[in-house]
Amino acid sequence: MGQLNVPLTRRALLGGAAGLALTRGAFAQVRRSTVDDPIIAGYARNLPVLAAHGMVASQEMQASRIGVDILRRGGNAVDAAVATGFALAVTLPRAGNIGGGGFMLVHLAAAQKTVAIDYREMAGALTTRDVFLDEGGRFQPSKSQASGLGVGVPGTVAGFALAHEKYGSGKFSLADLIAPAAALARDGFIVDDDLADSLPSAVRRFAPWPSSRAIFMHADGRPFGRGERLVQGDLAASLEAIMTRGPRGFYEGETARRIVAAVEGAGGRMTLDDLASYRAVEREPVRGTYRGREVVSMPPPSSGGVHVIEILNILEGFDIAALGHNSAATIHLMAEAMKLAYADRSKYLGDPDFVKVPMAGLTSKAYAEKLRAQISLERARPSTDIGPGAPYESDQTTHYSVVDAQGNAVSNTYTLNFSYGLGLVAPGTGILLNNELDDFAAREGVSNAFGLTGGDANAPGPRKRPLSSMSPSFVFEDGALRLVTGSPGGSRIINIVLQIIMNVVDHRMNVAEASEAPRIHHQWLPDELRVEKGLSPDTVRLLEKLGHKVMLMPVIGSTQTIERARGQLAGAADTRQRGTGVAGY
Ligand code: GLY
Repeated sequence: MGQLNVPLTRRALLGGAAGLALTRGAFAQVRRSTVDDPIIAGYARNLPVLAAHGMVASQEMQASRIGVDILRRGGNAVDAAVATGFALAVTLPRAGNIGGGGFMLVHLAAAQKTVAIDYREMAGALTTRDVFLDEGGRFQPSKSQASGLGVGVPGTVAGFALAHEKYGSGKFSLADLIAPAAALARDGFIVDDDLADSLPSAVRRFAPWPSSRAIFMHADGRPFGRGERLVQGDLAASLEAIMTRGPRGFYEGETARRIVAAVEGAGGRMTLDDLASYRAVEREPVRGTYRGREVVSMPPPSSGGVHVIEILNILEGFDIAALGHNSAATIHLMAEAMKLAYADRSKYLGDPDFVKVPMAGLTSKAYAEKLRAQISLERARPSTDIGPGAPYESDQTTHYSVVDAQGNAVSNTYTLNFSYGLGLVAPGTGILLNNELDDFAAREGVSNAFGLTGGDANAPGPRKRPLSSMSPSFVFEDGALRLVTGSPGGSRIINIVLQIIMNVVDHRMNVAEASEAPRIHHQWLPDELRVEKGLSPDTVRLLEKLGHKVMLMPVIGSTQTIERARGQLAGAADTRQRGTGVAGY
């Protein structure tokens, strides 16, 4: 264990850091201060939090503070991202995790280099093409969504360890960065905000698993509620095993044995060798341009970056700024471009270690021009004219963004797939396991509970990574980092990130306005244009006249965005969930 220990962590949690700027989603409080005890300076809807040096925007304020504490003590953006990620595994257990996986984009300012770390979960070696089918060849969603067969080998610990080892500042050991999370798990923290909001709906997922009920529910079956202290002693011990032994404390030994036993007990086929041989890998990020800015994002096995760029390329041919933000004309063009990209998603995208993904073609300006020519300004094109397939939806992912004083940055999205993953805590570990393998296409042409169909490119297979939509992204202007963004939201992530970029570039919004603005989403199939509350009825009527089937959705996504401009950092935590927070100094 290194020097950063519990007392320092507690100080950070109590908010006793000088010059800390904070905002909490939903309450949208902004604290601006140059004194030791930050003060609430007011309500700041549509105004970002400002800071001069470093900033973390995440879906849970305690985790943001832990990240900023690391920055203030000389850590770089990667150190802060690792500490924030471990903390979210404790404080935002429905999506923050060490039992899941994700993607981290790292920008290294001095080297002018961006790297993509793929720590997506991987199918075990015993996974077969028909793993989620019954004897008659019919897809059984219960196998991929509610049994051990859906659990992928977790990648988060390997991904964070790789990021720390290669790109951390060297001033903090991995144990230093885990210590705040371990303290929160061991001492407990008060249930509030998103945790209090989400636990009641997870009761059904926990029902089959006594190990999970024992942590998140009282003996009488009530979930922990607002104001109660949640202590996760087993999770603290699992984190401490990683502090002592590094990633081997997770992928080998007692924790690994318990994970394998839990997966087997739930009907899965994971082996100790699957865990021991898991590796996070570095990949070349996917790059494109939009109106002179460079967009850098996550490559396969995420579909995110490819399609954000594909849609931006199509829309670049229209004068979106002149058509106006969320006008019927703009939304129509966006929806038509989205349909075309999502149709490509189901056909071409998969794990690049197993299938050849035509990345250059899909992200080329020439291809976008061809697609653009198919768009009518007068009429929505029925999705059935475009082709078969449909993507996947889930809100149960989480994103955070980090920028440090040197201009290094991290954009990280990770997930358990469903809210609280499979709902199963591996007994004795406190670790919630994912059900990520449901992101595979179980069978050609058959949709899962979320409407997913796909083909061979994303078929289940041994040691394969299922296709994702997670899109941690950067935007650069004149070679300098301008925007760090990302979101949860399953297949909607692509369109959510797209709209943050368009809102800033086309509509000249600040990042808080860009985050608050009502969002829209079309995912090709079902042929529905989904919109958040806030579009005018006139706009909806015009869209319906163009042939769109407009559906109202409660919320779309939860972006955590930092903009670097005019010598300062401006952060916005999405207010669509309670408890999100930007912290800066
Ligand atoms: N599990 C959701 C995604 O990776 O896109």
